[in-house]
Amino acid sequence: MLAHLLARHGIDSVVLESRSRDYVGQRVRAGVLEQGTVDLLTASGVGERMQREGLVHHGIELRFEGQGHRIPLTELTGGRSITVYGQQEVVKDLIQARLGAGGALLFEADALGVDEIDSDRPRVHYRQANQTHTLESDFVAGCDGFWGVSRHAVPAGVLNVYEKEYPFAWLGVLAATPPASDELIYASHDRGFALLSMRSPEISRLYLQCRPDEPLDDWSDERIWRELQARFATDAGFTLHPGAMLEKSVTTMRSFVVEPMQYGRLFLAGDAAHIVPPTGAKGMNLAIADVRVLADALAHWYATGRSDLLDAYSATCLRRVWRAEHFSWWMTSMLHRFPDDDGGFQYRLQLSQLRYVTTSHAAATSLAENYVGLEKV
Ligand code: DHB
Repeated sequence: MLAHLLARHGIDSVVLESRSRDYVGQRVRAGVLEQGTVDLLTASGVGERMQREGLVHHGIELRFEGQGHRIPLTELTGGRSITVYGQQEVVKDLIQARLGAGGALLFEADALGVDEIDSDRPRVHYRQANQTHTLESDFVAGCDGFWGVSRHAVPAGVLNVYEKEYPFAWLGVLAATPPASDELIYASHDRGFALLSMRSPEISRLYLQCRPDEPLDDWSDERIWRELQARFATDAGFTLHPGAMLEKSVTTMRSFVVEPMQYGRLFLAGDAAHIVPPTGAKGMNLAIADVRVLADALAHWYATGRSDLLDAYSATCLRRVWRAEHFSWWMTSMLHRFPDDDGGFQYRLQLSQLRYVTTSHAAATSLAENYVGLEKV
């Protein structure tokens, strides 16, 4: 996305992708685009297939104590909505746009390290087809995720790390069955959280709270469907229709932020700088918001020689990051069963919060405006 936005300003870049084109086009990840993300993809000319195939949603459901409660996102946010469109579809569209424009996008190119970020010629070392190479550039954008090498190029003592781990994980499945609801369902249940989402009118995406060390082998397809059915059950009767499982994986949950998101000529973006638990559907949206700020700041530097926007990059991004960190932590805390909640005190607080959010216009509006993405943070 950064390379695409930079190209629109006439700025060259080289993208190093450690995996193959096929792999990144198939990797199942998030699926909810905020209004601002949709608008940026559209305005920058890569939104055509998303406009055609993406599913626009105007509400979500919170389900607890056997009842569903709709949060009318669009009504509560002056007309904003979310679009369900898989992250790997966004990735495919961007790859096609970059390669179509003759952009330098190297696959199976493993970044080994970044150095000289204190100078005005920072370097990236990488390996491709068993050969090592070095790239020199004006800037390096560390968009290489939580496990990437770029963050480690910052000298010790510069970065402050803020971190929280959660005592649970998500078991995610992609299933060949039509979604049992038109809208996403976030379910809080005594047995644990569950989420119903989708990728198309034929494909469901479902998640179950599980233990962080849960072996996937313990979860047969049949057990997963039984557990999902139990957690989504309503008094009125709600039925999931099992289908073939196309993919299964376990996602651990953490909150993580480093400050600042920049040192010298290295700018960190996305998961390289911050992680949110998935409950608020914010991860991909935050990454795209970061690179939008970075692309504008770099364009300003190339056009005027002024570094004011680059200097403000970290602070600008961190305001949005911390809003999303709070919202994701809050949604996670409200909806999951905590294993150390022995007497059930916390569960009763959670249920009270859910009743409040689903009956108070003010509380529902707060959830809705964070969920679709705040313009001003
Ligand atoms: C999806 C993932 C999320 O984390 C979420 O909150 C909602 C939907 C999804 O993969 O569809």
